[in-house]
Amino acid sequence: MIKALEETTEYLQERGFDKPEIGIILGTGLGKLVDKLEVISEVSYNHIPSFPTATVEFHRGKLIFGKLDGKKVVVMQGRFHIYEGYSFWDVTYPVRVMKRLGIKKLLISNAAGAINPEFNKGEIMVIDDHINLQGGSPLAFRGVEHLGTRFTDMSAPYDQESIRLLEEIAKENNITLRKGVYASVVGPQLETRAEYRYLKIIGADAVGMSTVPEVIVANHLNIPIAAVSVLTDEGNPDDLKPVDIDDIIKTASEAEPDMIVLFRELIKRIKLKTPADA
Ligand code: HPA
Repeated sequence: MIKALEETTEYLQERGFDKPEIGIILGTGLGKLVDKLEVISEVSYNHIPSFPTATVEFHRGKLIFGKLDGKKVVVMQGRFHIYEGYSFWDVTYPVRVMKRLGIKKLLISNAAGAINPEFNKGEIMVIDDHINLQGGSPLAFRGVEHLGTRFTDMSAPYDQESIRLLEEIAKENNITLRKGVYASVVGPQLETRAEYRYLKIIGADAVGMSTVPEVIVANHLNIPIAAVSVLTDEGNPDDLKPVDIDDIIKTASEAEPDMIVLFRELIKRIKLKTPADA
């Protein structure tokens, strides 16, 4: 386990992934932030030793190292999902690697369905808290204590300072930014009407099929996280229309410019702890 992580990390360091400060995981239909990057090195997932291999064809499946607005970043273009058949270990493996490379912050985006009736398709929600409905944990394995504390605290899983900054940036740029609770399901099927009703009752504002495993592991490794959901459809149980995956991807790409503004400005403004205070 640790040996695999060391091997992956060394491989990337040899290819120029030199002490990234920020890790970024880009969700479905949200890969264009990469175009703003001054790319220093990039590797396809399937060339990286011990890395899970990309499957779903709309993920290009690359790990990219470069500079964005003066900061060194490592970007996952496309992530791994439980619904593709990967294990929790696989899905969160890149977060463990990014930590070893040196990241001090993790930024995550995803596409999600709106549950809160006040939230609209095309808007962005900053995640303030989550509900894990994936039926498992990325920390439930023998030997986890060698990689961090087993009973990881989740009382504040998302970095409050980043949330404050994102709200400030949204205001300055006239972007409607919602704040709420993200529920993660396995998928890949979408929700039934009864499930949307249930999600609303339990306090979810949005639902998606990713992010929570990575956030749990980032908390396990003490990496502060900022995560945003692009709301690609509305799960209204009283008027549910069939969901079209192409429409979800289209809506994600339409909202993507706003997401890019939020992430770029956040990257400019976040203060990273120096190794001395870490
Ligand atoms: N449900 C689950 N995952 C999703 C949805 C949804 O409505 N929209 C985008 N990802």
